[in-house]
Amino acid sequence: MLIESWPASEAAWARAKKSLAGGVSTGMRASMKPHPLFFSSASGPRMTDLDGNTYLDHVLGWGPVILGHGHPGLTEAVASRISLGATYGAGHALEYEAAERVVAAIPGVERVLWSNTGSEANQVALRLARAATGRKRFAKMLGHYHGWSDTFLLGYRPDSAGSVESLGSAGQLDSALSDVSLVPFGDLDAAAAVLKNQESDIAAVFVEPVLCNSGVIAPPEGYLAGLRELCDATDTVLVFDEVITGFRLAYGGAVERYGVQPDLVVLAKAIAGGYPVSAIAGRASLLEQVTSGVVHAGTYNGNPVVLAATVATLEALGADGIYPAFEARGQELATGMRSAIAASGVLGAVNQIGPVVQVLFGTGDGSTLDQFFAGDQVFYDRLIVHLLRRGVFALPGGRWYLSTAHTADDVATTVQAFAEALSATVGDGPGPA
Ligand SMILES: Cc1ncc(COP(=O)(O)O)c(C=O)c1O
Repeated sequence: MLIESWPASEAAWARAKKSLAGGVSTGMRASMKPHPLFFSSASGPRMTDLDGNTYLDHVLGWGPVILGHGHPGLTEAVASRISLGATYGAGHALEYEAAERVVAAIPGVERVLWSNTGSEANQVALRLARAATGRKRFAKMLGHYHGWSDTFLLGYRPDSAGSVESLGSAGQLDSALSDVSLVPFGDLDAAAAVLKNQESDIAAVFVEPVLCNSGVIAPPEGYLAGLRELCDATDTVLVFDEVITGFRLAYGGAVERYGVQPDLVVLAKAIAGGYPVSAIAGRASLLEQVTSGVVHAGTYNGNPVVLAATVATLEALGADGIYPAFEARGQELATGMRSAIAASGVLGAVNQIGPVVQVLFGTGDGSTLDQFFAGDQVFYDRLIVHLLRRGVFALPGGRWYLSTAHTADDVATTVQAFAEALSATVGDGPGPA
């Protein structure tokens, strides 16, 4: 039976807007169609909304819920920790027990610092790099996202004039652009031109090793190793922002998957299964600067409850067979979607790596940033409403996540709903040709 409307969510949204600015807790959620939904509970791969509808969840909290909702080991770890106190503002064993797991997981990582969000952690990484190199500026790839801070929210999406080399928000100072060199992802010559020019004054190169925020675009063969060589040759700090890829593309993230070790790795999302933790991990010589002048602060850093979640999540992700299953489920989802797109006759592409999938309509194979920007988001927005009607909850923008709780049957159910939703979307009006 199709879901026709969401009266309880609509009423909740109307009420929320009277006290909560915009009616949502992050601006990105405002873009959800047909309007933000409000949920009451979640279990495994499913979430239930205020109207009592249950959906297969491919949003997964925008990425963190890698074990599915209410994973027993994670829930038990958090529940038993809560009764021991919310926060100490002092040392406790989980700080190093969780750090030891990160050190063991990611090749080349010697030390860890705890923070709360990916946005904060990138800021810490940049501060460490500036302190170590004595340089002021940094390089960032076009279309990559490193959080909402004034420093990093630039070069991400085209502005109203179509330029990607722009600020991301009202209220940012133009001067933020003067601290950054924006480089096309995958282009080693462009990176070399910036890094080898001493006047660029580059302390660090930030990169999503697999671009997941603007399509799912793998690095060209040899690209990450090439960046490593360029950074070595110019004494520049290489930072992999693994907020999405960390503990998702492999237990050791993109570092393990591609065999290239950066100087710093930024982690968040999957590391704690849905609880707010981030980490800056990497070479001891960089991280130990916190003992010699670099300030790394935060009231909630190393909170025992969220670090209990971190240990439990990493324990669960360390079990045999997790990553092969992610690859298998990811491929099933991508293959099923490709067949549905082929059958529908619309122009579309699906990219997949592990449990992350990108669907794109109306443009090429989705292998470049320009194609991602040219994608038909209006068509996609119509599609995700038809998916909701069929009990599938998907992100705006085309990215799909899978958790360990999604079975092959769940993926088959999603694929079936995708095919039906796609033909309903095409039936509503012409799709991209
Ligand atoms: C690659 C990447 N870096 C940084 C961030 C920012 O993390 P947070 O939202 O926890 O501040 C995100 C968030 O989606 C991300 O995808």
